[in-house]
Amino acid sequence: MVLVDNTFATAYFQRPLALGADLVLHSLTKYMNGHSDVVMGCLMMNNEELYKQLSFLQYAIGAVPSPFDCYLVNRGLKTLSVRMKQHMASGLRIAKYLEKHQHVARVIYPPLESHPQHDLYKKQMSGFSGMISIYLKGDDAVKSQRFLKQLKLFTTAESLGGYESLVELPAVMTHASVPEEHRRLLGITDGLIRMSVGLEDVQDLIDDIEAALQYAFSDKKD
Ligand SMILES: Cc1ncc(COP(=O)(O)O)c(C=O)c1O
Repeated sequence: MVLVDNTFATAYFQRPLALGADLVLHSLTKYMNGHSDVVMGCLMMNNEELYKQLSFLQYAIGAVPSPFDCYLVNRGLKTLSVRMKQHMASGLRIAKYLEKHQHVARVIYPPLESHPQHDLYKKQMSGFSGMISIYLKGDDAVKSQRFLKQLKLFTTAESLGGYESLVELPAVMTHASVPEEHRRLLGITDGLIRMSVGLEDVQDLIDDIEAALQYAFSDKKD
């Protein structure tokens, strides 16, 4: 059985059931709701038997969302296409800017031709969200933290997919519970930074990143 976590791509850019997956998972908390005011998830399938089994479990366990949360997600979905187009446009512009930056070693963003699975991306997705990962040169925890602290428009937080730009250090935040050896195998080093590009003016975001990168790599004292 194949389960796809489609949270980063959203149903707007990728349709895993149509591509043959058995189950699709979304953290609706993220792009699908898009307004950072709900915690909810969903499973989607086109198999009646599986649906009955999972519905029974959901009912028995009690993982049932409130009517108000459902209302908020439904409301958010009405602007999904417009939001995703903007996340993609801003994400691509920022990814291209970062790819040329003197202090950035590597940018991971599927729409970039440099992404190792760019051909697969083009085959099965019609676009991508604002989720960008970068490695800063030197792989230095101090520089990464100075960069995050200096950002004014990107808030340091673990969530993603909302209207506001967020940034995080996986090694000490989302993936802190992963053993260090395993983190290293996955490439989760001190220089890895994950950004969720929001809906703010993209030039303002680039200016913010530029100022914070210059600061992080300067001799200025904190
Ligand atoms: C890709 C992905 N899937 C699932 C989840 C879980 O989402 P939730 O916190 O809404 O349960 C997250 C949360 O960060 C996520 O990033």
